[in-house]
Amino acid sequence: MSPLASAFLFQSLIVCIQALNVAIIGEGVIGTSTALAIKRLDKDVNITVYHDKDFKDILSHGIAGLFRIDDGKPINRLYGAQTFERLAELWREFGGNSGVQLVSGHILSQSQEKLDAQWENYGQVVYNYVNLTYPQLHSQFKLENDELYKAIHYTAFTSEGARYIPWMKKLLEETYDVMYIKQHIDSVEELGDDGYDVVVNCGGLAGGKLAADGDEKKMYPIRGLLLKTNASWQKHFLYRDFTTFTIPVIDAVYVGTIKEEHNDSLVIDEESIEKIWGAYLELQPAFKDVEIIDRFVGLRPARVGGARVKAETRNNTNGNEYRIVHNYGHGGNGFTLGWGSAEHAARLALGFDTSQYDELLNRVHIDMPKDVHKEKPKEMSDQDRAIVK
Ligand SMILES: *[C@@H]1O[C@H](CO)[C@@H](O)[C@H](O)[C@H]1NC(C)=O
Ligand SMILES: *[C@@H]1O[C@H](CO)[C@@H](O)[C@H](O)[C@H]1NC(C)=O
Ligand SMILES: *[C@@H]1O[C@H](CO)[C@@H](O)[C@H](O)[C@H]1NC(C)=O
Ligand SMILES: *[C@@H]1O[C@H](CO)[C@@H](O)[C@H](O)[C@H]1NC(C)=O
Ligand SMILES: *[C@@H]1O[C@H](CO)[C@@H](O)[C@H](O)[C@H]1NC(C)=O
Repeated sequence: MSPLASAFLFQSLIVCIQALNVAIIGEGVIGTSTALAIKRLDKDVNITVYHDKDFKDILSHGIAGLFRIDDGKPINRLYGAQTFERLAELWREFGGNSGVQLVSGHILSQSQEKLDAQWENYGQVVYNYVNLTYPQLHSQFKLENDELYKAIHYTAFTSEGARYIPWMKKLLEETYDVMYIKQHIDSVEELGDDGYDVVVNCGGLAGGKLAADGDEKKMYPIRGLLLKTNASWQKHFLYRDFTTFTIPVIDAVYVGTIKEEHNDSLVIDEESIEKIWGAYLELQPAFKDVEIIDRFVGLRPARVGGARVKAETRNNTNGNEYRIVHNYGHGGNGFTLGWGSAEHAARLALGFDTSQYDELLNRVHIDMPKDVHKEKPKEMSDQDRAIVK
């Protein structure tokens, strides 16, 4: 063998030895985002994504993905802020081609406490967050007991599952050589035994079972239903409290929803549809002539204590150590928390510093955006944040 050939062989061997083999279970918003976040930290990592269904049959495919945080605990606010910055970047560079859409709208409630929680949870991350004045509220909405309502307005992004995830997947396959394998996996340990250095569990509702360590007890479904309509004139999102809403995405308008904890039925029943439709018509009677063109049922992957983003080490049957990273249990906020938690999981997968997350995991309160955006100049406004990475 020529010296050049042997040098080449030697170098290839080194590359082979060094390439970290990572398996990711799940191709929903969490699995896909985590794969991309890992590649953005280190493009030489060898990633294989395992999924057991067709994309059109998973939860993420049906999601409208309006940015909104339900549980504003510190770690979620960091995840949310990181996701928002990512969506702003995608909007700036690719617009709707990435599945991301800039959209404004209103949330109405009789509970000032619930509205105050919106300000606490994400009010300083999104754009144009304001309280509606009495005339602004009452010229737009005519509700029973409407004198009892208060409302907020804000501008944020939707990241629509059926577009955003295929856009990321194309990038993963074409630019980053990520491989997809359709195969059912029962436990992270199956892939550990296959010799992967890192196994990332983004199994959503199945994440607890995949973890094979008893965490399954903490997981439960929250059944939801979404109706796709032809109301293409609806350009603002509208919520009454957090169950009755419309969300306009790129070329559809979704009407939701129900939140049935512990119900795992995937049946699309007329009773649920009528309940959603009836509640929505009370909020916006103009929808009476709107046609429902599609319907979708899904189970939000809820977890007692919130999403599990954590690394651990186990030994496989050959006695070799490998790393497991969990990233599942985001409930109804997978698209809002997804990019932030993917960045956290990616750092855990590659053994990078995670102190900015560790610090928040045990805290009950943070002031936003001071702590989270500490690298940014103080005088920067929310609007400026969209144009500076
Ligand atoms: C990358 O992962 C795939 C699937 O596990 C494997 O077949 C392939 O050999 C790996 N490539 C390298 C360079 O390790
Ligand atoms: C909205 O109104 C509430 C209640 O009056 C007030 O506490 C809060 O500071 C206001 N928020 C904003 C962003 O103006
Ligand atoms: C779950 O939802 C289905 C469909 O609406 C309904 O038939 C069933 O009774 C519900 N189950 C529970 C336990 O509420
Ligand atoms: C939606 O469908 C209804 C019923 O078919 C129809 O009357 C209406 O014109 C449609 N609206 C739009 C905007 O396409
Ligand atoms: C895993 O294997 C390592 C050696 O490779 C050993 O030091 C360690 O004790 C093992 N851990 C468990 C939990 O068996």
